[in-house]
Amino acid sequence: MQIDYKNPELTVTSQIEPKEIAWQSPSNIAIIKYWGKHGRQLPRNPSISLTLNEAHTRTEISYRAKVATDRPIDLEFYFDGKQNPAFANKIERFFTSIIDIFPFLGQLKLVIHSSNSFPHSAGIASSASAMSALSLCLCTMEQELFGTLQDKNEFLRKASFVSRLGSGSACRSVYPVAAAWGTSDHLEGSSDLFAIDCASTIHPIFKKFHDDILLISKAEKSVSSTAGHGLMDGNVYAAPRYQQANDRFKALLEAMKTGDVAQFGTLAEQEALTLHALMMTSNPAYVLMTANSLKAIRLVQQYRKDTGNPLYFTLDAGPNLHLLYPDSVADEVSTFVNDALQPLCQDGDVLKDVVGEGAVRYL
Ligand code: DP6
Repeated sequence: MQIDYKNPELTVTSQIEPKEIAWQSPSNIAIIKYWGKHGRQLPRNPSISLTLNEAHTRTEISYRAKVATDRPIDLEFYFDGKQNPAFANKIERFFTSIIDIFPFLGQLKLVIHSSNSFPHSAGIASSASAMSALSLCLCTMEQELFGTLQDKNEFLRKASFVSRLGSGSACRSVYPVAAAWGTSDHLEGSSDLFAIDCASTIHPIFKKFHDDILLISKAEKSVSSTAGHGLMDGNVYAAPRYQQANDRFKALLEAMKTGDVAQFGTLAEQEALTLHALMMTSNPAYVLMTANSLKAIRLVQQYRKDTGNPLYFTLDAGPNLHLLYPDSVADEVSTFVNDALQPLCQDGDVLKDVVGEGAVRYL
């Protein structure tokens, strides 16, 4: 089945009542990384992530009937209460690209307010939470205007599909606990087009996992993820990497099913270092880790050796470490983080997060 969700029938023929809707959607941290894409936002390999709780975007859309304008999409966008033309342009381009999925977008005047729970310049990728929050709002608008998408699974699948078109990793953010995106023979129902919920297939230990984000640097990344994906096309290691990601995906699913924290952590660290190795072997090559990222990695590995506590790290496409550990060692890890790792962070900032219950509508 090849879904594309194009639907010319989703145009409003009666009077449009002004309305406001809102979603809060979380960020997620990939354990098996999506790195490399093709076509219209299709991944080169399957990925799997944990859904976060504290790091999220809140997005409110109010809509009313559009008065005549030349612009196909008529929107105003406010970030943290201030008009933001750069983000507005990005969203306008995104909405224009999906107008065949939601043709009613061309009939509305939209005012969008958005804010993040984490500081704007924290070096934390916000595209996953931002794009998923927007997409969830669009699906709710469809639901309210046309009475469609009443089935929860159908609703989330479409929200995930649309989120993917906004930013690949965003498609995993709509589900609680854990989500997988990308076709794999080892996961029934998996697809390149949308993510699926993995909560029911994983061991309870992962449902209370922690992710402390060490803000090693809050500077904006020198190479965006989107540009990094593009550089995979010329990377000599691309083909073996995609094979490796498939193999690790299978191994991670098994570890998450059985509650094998050591295997989970080993794979998380291997994936983090592989991701950065791929950046270092791109053309042009680049390095996003800093001296303090490496110091923190060494300290985490030494701590694990010394204490036997299951503390592991992963990285996204930046210098900041995500510390992954089960709830049972939270107190001990907290002392270690405060004493040894916090001094390596810019302004001593650590964002403490846990696995979360996914996106929620609040208006
Ligand atoms: C390293 O989803 O930000 O975080 O699809 O171009 O928006 P675009 O890229 P993006 O890439 C995320 C890359 C990653 C790994 C992951 O989240 O799987």
